[in-house]
Amino acid sequence: MNLVEDHAAVSDRAALARDLVAAWERQQEVYIPAREARFDLMVEVLGRVRPHQGESLRVLDLACGPGSATRRVLARYPRAEVTSLDLDPLLVELGRLDLADAERRPTWLTGDLRDPSWPGLLPHAAYDAVVSTTALHWLTGAELSAVYAQAHALLRPGGVLLNGDYLPTRRPGGAVADLVRRIGEDREERAVADGALDWETWWDRVRATPEFASEVAAHDAIFAGRVSADSPSRAFHLEALREAGFADVDLIWHDLTEGLVCAVA
Ligand SMILES: C[S@@+](CC[C@H](N)C(=O)[O-])C[C@H]1O[C@@H](n2cnc3c(N)ncnc32)[C@H](O)[C@@H]1O
Repeated sequence: MNLVEDHAAVSDRAALARDLVAAWERQQEVYIPAREARFDLMVEVLGRVRPHQGESLRVLDLACGPGSATRRVLARYPRAEVTSLDLDPLLVELGRLDLADAERRPTWLTGDLRDPSWPGLLPHAAYDAVVSTTALHWLTGAELSAVYAQAHALLRPGGVLLNGDYLPTRRPGGAVADLVRRIGEDREERAVADGALDWETWWDRVRATPEFASEVAAHDAIFAGRVSADSPSRAFHLEALREAGFADVDLIWHDLTEGLVCAVA
C-alpha cells in the first residue's frame, strides 16, 4: 500500500467508525429511551466535583464501550483527562477513531474488570470521578463488589462514582416487574419501528464491515458463549457501595429498571 492509499484507508476507517458509533448511540436508546437525560445528569454532577489537581477533571470510564460516557464528559469538559477502559477491542477501537479529533484525547485501554489487576493498567493512581454506563450488570455480585472497592480506592476523598445501569428493583415475576417489562418492550418496538437498529442488527452491521474484521475476530474470541450474569439488584448496588467504603450513596435518577447511582468517596 502506498502512502496515499494508506491515508485513504485510515480515513475510511475513521468515517466508518463515526457511522457505527452514531448507530450505536441510537441502538442504546432503543433500550434506554431516557439515556440522554441520564448522561446530562452525570455530567452535571461532574461539574460539582472539584478537580484535585489544576483545572482538569480526571475521570475514569469503566466498561466504556465506544466511549459513550467519555464523549459526553469531553463535550462538556474538553480539558478533562479521561481514561476509558473496556474488555472489547472492537468497541475501544471505534471509540478511539471517533474521538481522535478531541481537544484532549482519552487514554483508551482494553482490560477485564473481572481480573483484579485491572487498576494496574491505568495511567493515574487517583481520579476525581469514576463513571460507568449500561455495563456493570454484566458482573456477578462478587465481581461488582470488588470493582466498587477498587473504584473507591482510586477516588480521592470527595470524588464521585456514578453508575448508570440496569438496576432491577426486584427479581422478575411480580406484577409490577411484569408491567415494567411490558412497557420496556413496547418502547423497544416503537424505537425499532422508528428506524433504530436493535442490538443484533447493530452487530450484523459491524460484521458486514470488512475494515473491522480483525477487531470483530478479537471480539468473538473474547465474548463467544458469554452470557450476562443474573444482574444484581438496585439494593445490592447501594449496599455494595456502602461496604466498599463510600461515605454517602444514593439513587439519584431512575426510569423503569434503569437507574443512576451516585456515591461520594
Ligand atoms: C452495553 S455496553 C455499554 C457500553 C457503554 N458504556 C455505553 O453506555 O454505551 C456494555 C459494555 O461492557 C463491557 N464489558 C462487559 N464485561 C466487561 C468486563 N468484564 N470488563 C470490562 N468491560 C466489560 C462490554 O465490552 C461493553 O462495551
